[in-house]
Amino acid sequence: MIPAAAAQSSADREMRKIPNNGNLKMTKVAYPLGLFICLFIYVAYIKWHWASATQAFFSITEVASGARRGHQAHSAPGTAAHGHEVFYGIMFDAGSTGTRVHIFQFNRQPGETPTLTHETFKALKPGLSAYADDVEKSTSGIQELLDVAKQDVPFDFWKATPLVLKATAGLRLLPGEKAQKLLQKVKEVFKASPFLVGEDCVSIMNGTDEGVSAWITVNFLTGSLKTPGRSSVGMLDLGGGSTQITFLPRVEDTLQTSPPGYLTSLQMFNRTYKLYSYSYLGLGLMSARLAILGGIEGKPAEDGKELVSPCLSPGFTGEWEHAEITYRISGQKAAVNLHELCASRVSEILRNKVHRTEEVKDVDFYAFSYYYDLAANVGLIDAEKGGSLVVGDFDIAAKYVCRTAETRLQGNPFLCMDLTYISLLLQEFGFPENKMLKLTRKINNVETSWALGAIFHYIDSLSRQKSPAL
Ligand SMILES: *[C@@H]1O[C@H](CO)[C@@H](O)[C@H](O)[C@H]1NC(C)=O
Ligand SMILES: *[C@@H]1O[C@H](CO)[C@@H](O)[C@H](O)[C@H]1NC(C)=O
Repeated sequence: MIPAAAAQSSADREMRKIPNNGNLKMTKVAYPLGLFICLFIYVAYIKWHWASATQAFFSITEVASGARRGHQAHSAPGTAAHGHEVFYGIMFDAGSTGTRVHIFQFNRQPGETPTLTHETFKALKPGLSAYADDVEKSTSGIQELLDVAKQDVPFDFWKATPLVLKATAGLRLLPGEKAQKLLQKVKEVFKASPFLVGEDCVSIMNGTDEGVSAWITVNFLTGSLKTPGRSSVGMLDLGGGSTQITFLPRVEDTLQTSPPGYLTSLQMFNRTYKLYSYSYLGLGLMSARLAILGGIEGKPAEDGKELVSPCLSPGFTGEWEHAEITYRISGQKAAVNLHELCASRVSEILRNKVHRTEEVKDVDFYAFSYYYDLAANVGLIDAEKGGSLVVGDFDIAAKYVCRTAETRLQGNPFLCMDLTYISLLLQEFGFPENKMLKLTRKINNVETSWALGAIFHYIDSLSRQKSPAL
């Protein structure tokens, strides 16, 4: 896009210069000439990028009509003859272990909520944080992913397609200065790209942002953002470091009794949602394991001492690596009724940590990440397709696995601990035993990551800025 823009602006300059000379004849020649040069460079550029002939044709007609209309050429590139609009959004998910690009294509009928029509993604390892000490090296990976976006988004949509990077856990843990340097570098690369890049194009998400974005994704995919009357669904996520719960309260009491920091306001499609959303740092599954074992985050055990837990099989000894520290761990000797001992240890860890709401009983919830993995691990749901279960199923599975662990070592030594933890965590949130949860990775065949909700919200906020009357 740069050569075309350059051609356009040089044509502009000429247009401005020539009337100053007061030569009317020259102006008459300069307009078609400028247009011709502009077209020529455009076509050459497209050829150079191996674009298809039809695409080149569209680009040329765009430029031709754009030249007539002035700078509005690309303001609505997707408005086709039959009235629906196609648009794109590019979201980089900078996670702790890798960077992933999602390229979303949407379609919108006039006056309706957009639908997702296509998604492309590509992931690269390692994560951005691996370049903390050499930021220059981070650019080639970003560039590679940008090239994927350039191939996926048609040329004449580039300028109108927002490009955003949001970083999660990995960068959140880096010292502030190092993280900022990395983000600044990404921003430079983004600004040099042909996409729509705002000042807020790179940022670090906190747990609440992540939970809210995932909530948008789920409700967008289930269609409940579309039809305002339709009841929304809640979202439960269990990561390694933190766990999130997000839902839209309908009961006034929930809004009244929630502590500050648990309610967050979200604007989407001309509506304001007051969401209940909280991210519990330290209650993710891996952090919880460490706490249950009696270890401290970021610190090796004193004198390499062994961490002993009633949640591990009595005969078990081994090593466990967490956050780049290796801990020696073992089960408690001669333990009887492992599940009871383990549950009482886990309850200690969870005591007074979690805010409980009555309303969760009445909201439909989707659960993701480790909730899914653990349930699939013990056969409560299909590992590929997901499924539904009731909260009490985790308790039944925990009791069974822990009983087995009393006498037998298991492939996954943490299974008794993890299931007990999940079961009690859900109870702490206020879910009764018979509460049904949906566990899935995909809704309508689209992966349920926060990235979709985050780009969607970003695009919506851009359109609000454009037309504040909405
Ligand atoms: C998370 O970040 C958002 C801005 O992205 C901010 O509005 C919110 O207060 C933050 N929440 C917490 C709990 O830090
Ligand atoms: C947005 O909401 C206002 C007030 O509820 C309404 O008057 C307006 O028509 C809505 N706009 C759109 C685009 O839905």
